[in-house]
Amino acid sequence: MRYDFDAVIDRRGTNATKLQKYEGRDILPFWIADMDFAVPEFILSALRQRLDHPIIGYTKKPQSLTHALQGWLAHHYGWQVPEDWIVWLPGVVPGLNMAVHMLAEHQQILVPTPIYYPFLDLQANTGRPQVAVPLQLVDGVWSMDFDAMTQAMNGEVKMVCIANPQNPTGRCYRLNELQALADFIERHDLLLVSDEIHCQLILDQDKHHRPIAHAVPEIAHRTVSLFAATKTYNIPGLGCAAAIVPDPGLRARFLATRGDLVPGPGPLNYLASEIAFNDRSDWVPSLLATLRRNRQLLEAVAGSRMTAVEATYLAWIYVGDLQLNDVDDHFESHGLGLSCGAPFGHPDYVRFNFAAPKPVLEAGLRRLAGALKSP
Ligand SMILES: Cc1ncc(COP(=O)(O)O)c(C=O)c1O
Repeated sequence: MRYDFDAVIDRRGTNATKLQKYEGRDILPFWIADMDFAVPEFILSALRQRLDHPIIGYTKKPQSLTHALQGWLAHHYGWQVPEDWIVWLPGVVPGLNMAVHMLAEHQQILVPTPIYYPFLDLQANTGRPQVAVPLQLVDGVWSMDFDAMTQAMNGEVKMVCIANPQNPTGRCYRLNELQALADFIERHDLLLVSDEIHCQLILDQDKHHRPIAHAVPEIAHRTVSLFAATKTYNIPGLGCAAAIVPDPGLRARFLATRGDLVPGPGPLNYLASEIAFNDRSDWVPSLLATLRRNRQLLEAVAGSRMTAVEATYLAWIYVGDLQLNDVDDHFESHGLGLSCGAPFGHPDYVRFNFAAPKPVLEAGLRRLAGALKSP
């Protein structure tokens, strides 16, 4: 392989959030969603070159970045997105919060759970009441439960917020599921926020990501779709994201929520994302091959506790039978830093980030094997 995803890179001394949590303790971190792999050299060298210029001042969004995103959407999905649909943001999570602020204060959001925990912080952040509807697990597959979602309709729910691919379950929703969601959105006259940040991390070779606003264009005018290159290329420290809002009225409402509260990305952030969106090399395919291998190594240890990870580098592992008083404490006592399921809306699970070089992953899996035996 041309890229060495198995090189162990010492992240100490970089203030990495992933490591800081367990500083001074013999705990291997497999929690927060960044990868222990090097950023591709074509991004690093562009950043180095930019740093040859000694001034890093306020910087406008480069037109070339918008072109890069448009080219990327056309290349991967055949989606032609006009420039005026795109709103650049410093991250997906700010975009998610801005979208909820479009609602009147009494209006509610529906969130299928478990889900990436900032979705469950939306009520506290925005004051808009939140209805959590559990995903259903049928034959090892997590999916949206439209009967339960229909029952949750109370006249005040005006928006659904999803992640697709789904964090933490690793689902890549099929076209028929997206169509069913679109029917639901139309039937109940709702808005939809679709966080698609993991869209390039599809591990199953027979699955495909489909941006819902493109796959079901009938509901495009109701959607805010959130994209970023930062997850795939391991540059989340250079936050940069794009909201695609096809409807002009909705876009004006979305932009109005920004005020002066949400800054634009900085010049290095713009640059790294532009290079990433323009990339058509074999870096992502090589990354996906490594993640597939790592998924297999993890499956060999977690077995049926782990539901199929179709996409992302995050595994959702059942630990309810272990009857743990303190999930974090249990895994930490085995030398593992995992994400406890409770903040995602399901305390019987842990999330394991398997984007690590093989030697690190294997050391972690030896510890995991011990931790998953009944205490
Ligand atoms: C589903 C999902 N959305 C958003 C984010 C974070 O996005 P950002 O850093 O651009 O706010 C993550 C990071 O793990 C994620 O998994």
